[in-house]
Amino acid sequence: MSSGAIDDLGFESRTFPPSTEFVATTHVADDSLYREGTANPDAYWERHARELVTWSTPWHTVCEWNLPFAKWFVGGELNVSFNCLDRHVLAGRGDRVAFYWEGEPGDTRTVTYKELLDETQKFANALLSLGVQKGDRVNIYLPMIPEAAVAMLACTRIGAAHSVVFGGFSAQALADRINDATAKVLITADGGWRRGEVFPLKPQADVALQDTPSIEHVVVVKRGGNDVAMQSGRDHWYHDLIAAANPMCPAEPMDAEQLLFLLYTSGTTGKPKGIMHTTGGYLTHVATTFKYVFDHQPDRDIFWCTADVGWVTGHSYIVYGPLANGATQVMYEGVPNFPANDRVWSLIEKYKVTIFYTAPTAIRTYMKWGTQEPQKHDLSSLRLLGSVGEPINPEAWMWYHEHIGHERCPIVDTWWQTETGGMMISPLPGATVTKPGSATRPLPGIGAEVVDESGTAITRGGGYLTLTHPWPGMLRGIWGDPKRYQETYWSRFPGRYFAGDGAKLDEDGYLWLLGRVDDVMNVSGHRISTTEVESALVSHPSVAEAAVVGANDATTGQAIIAYVTLRGGLTVDEHVLREHVAKEIGAIAKPKTVYFTPDLPKTRSGKIMRRLLRDVAEGRNLGDTTTLADASVVTELQRRASEHPAED
Ligand code: WTA
Repeated sequence: MSSGAIDDLGFESRTFPPSTEFVATTHVADDSLYREGTANPDAYWERHARELVTWSTPWHTVCEWNLPFAKWFVGGELNVSFNCLDRHVLAGRGDRVAFYWEGEPGDTRTVTYKELLDETQKFANALLSLGVQKGDRVNIYLPMIPEAAVAMLACTRIGAAHSVVFGGFSAQALADRINDATAKVLITADGGWRRGEVFPLKPQADVALQDTPSIEHVVVVKRGGNDVAMQSGRDHWYHDLIAAANPMCPAEPMDAEQLLFLLYTSGTTGKPKGIMHTTGGYLTHVATTFKYVFDHQPDRDIFWCTADVGWVTGHSYIVYGPLANGATQVMYEGVPNFPANDRVWSLIEKYKVTIFYTAPTAIRTYMKWGTQEPQKHDLSSLRLLGSVGEPINPEAWMWYHEHIGHERCPIVDTWWQTETGGMMISPLPGATVTKPGSATRPLPGIGAEVVDESGTAITRGGGYLTLTHPWPGMLRGIWGDPKRYQETYWSRFPGRYFAGDGAKLDEDGYLWLLGRVDDVMNVSGHRISTTEVESALVSHPSVAEAAVVGANDATTGQAIIAYVTLRGGLTVDEHVLREHVAKEIGAIAKPKTVYFTPDLPKTRSGKIMRRLLRDVAEGRNLGDTTTLADASVVTELQRRASEHPAED
């Protein structure tokens, strides 16, 4: 079982083929795309670049690969906003709804493709009038409102790169990102709605702006209605700029390798990295994966991705992938439990959502809130469910399948990263037999292998996930730091992109993601993934969510410490859970201590912060907590740790 890299402990035998009803209308019901992608990945991507993207100048070379630097569709020219807007309007689909938007307080707006194009052209002209030029960087710090998409698309129209910073980030995080990118303009809002209140954005931005010398102008969208200070000459209301703007702004063709955006990722440690994405390859990748992985059919689907535009999921599967495909979407501003725990399900019922894409952290939260919440609503419009952001535990997958998909909807568990730009490993819903908790196989045109310590590909068991050849949406580098790009992604296993994640392959060649390799625990010489122990804990009927870490231990090297959140109203004994893990995956993986907690510390994008839990478990002062969504969770855990008697 042990390959020396990561042990293979979990075992899951349930399988789910797509239903005949789903297969009847799917884009892909067999392995033809896989065969095409394997036979010649470049030709596969070239065909989709031609079919799904409109170019003003064709490329002369599909992929130029000077390891680790790739260029795609070299010589080609296109405009991303033209692809997302103009071509749909020119084809007579201007009245199609792009966004059904709902504010947290319940106010609504419907935005058609024609309206989105009109607004984008005006705002692009406004940016030009503020002195933004092709090649400049523009920072965006907005709530989830249609203007976020307009701002991004307006940048692409004129060839400025955007850098979106999540609205929940602090003034300091915003200032750091603005300064790293030396952005010229900041686009923000007075505030946005969250948990029934207005959270201030412009006041935060004002703090950041004290220390961002590159910013010349600030644009402010009125949303929250909160009082804000406007510095004359520098700060402008969005609605004033739009009212004064020329309505026509032709989409300028851009080089396929023009910088499209920077998106900062902090990873587990260190200074945030400005991940660089460019134009032609990225758009091809997200347009293709959106179409096939979501089996998207523009005339019948209503798509809802619950991510924020501040994350890569919002970039690729709210803005660029869906709009390039002419999709109709739901965009929601607020939290899932305002005014009550059934808001998400009420929105699915109201807008007749057919494809729903969310994160495991959200699914586990819904499990915690209980099945009575989705049961209040008619979810029969749904035909496909997706997951992204963390490994989805088999039991969370089953809950999603039963209580949301009503055993009717395929689930696509999509593995990818900010760095990969688009999805990499995922089922094709009409062609793939799924297994709960497995992301299944690399998508057509993508090469992924699991390797051992020495970098040799393995065919069974656990190891390190690597990507074997360039793909169109791949990051082109880290802004201002090519050396760090090379070291972070391309040095551990020569010739391979190392994703930083562990994975295992089962007897059918299916991939199972095992979490970040930095989190792997070493217990008496066994290399145990956090994901497998967490999934074993979540498979107990009382458990909604679990996080485990390895804490220094005099006897075993590291000991497994578990933090567990229970499903609504249920209780269970610590020793029962320890025995449950032993039974599910083996005595070696039994947690030494289990702490019960109402919440786990998470990043603002919902990933469990195991690094902090390790600090708590080892009684250290906490390291960097600035990316934590709710700091009080850790303080409470520290208090409990200090009261908990030592176990055996
Ligand atoms: C994790 C989000 C397991 C993984 C698109 C990856 C996943 C990191 C999955 C990237 C999945 C994402 N199964 N793990 N389906 N999707 N991850 O940059 O550790 O926010 O490396 O991109 O999330 O996170 P990022």
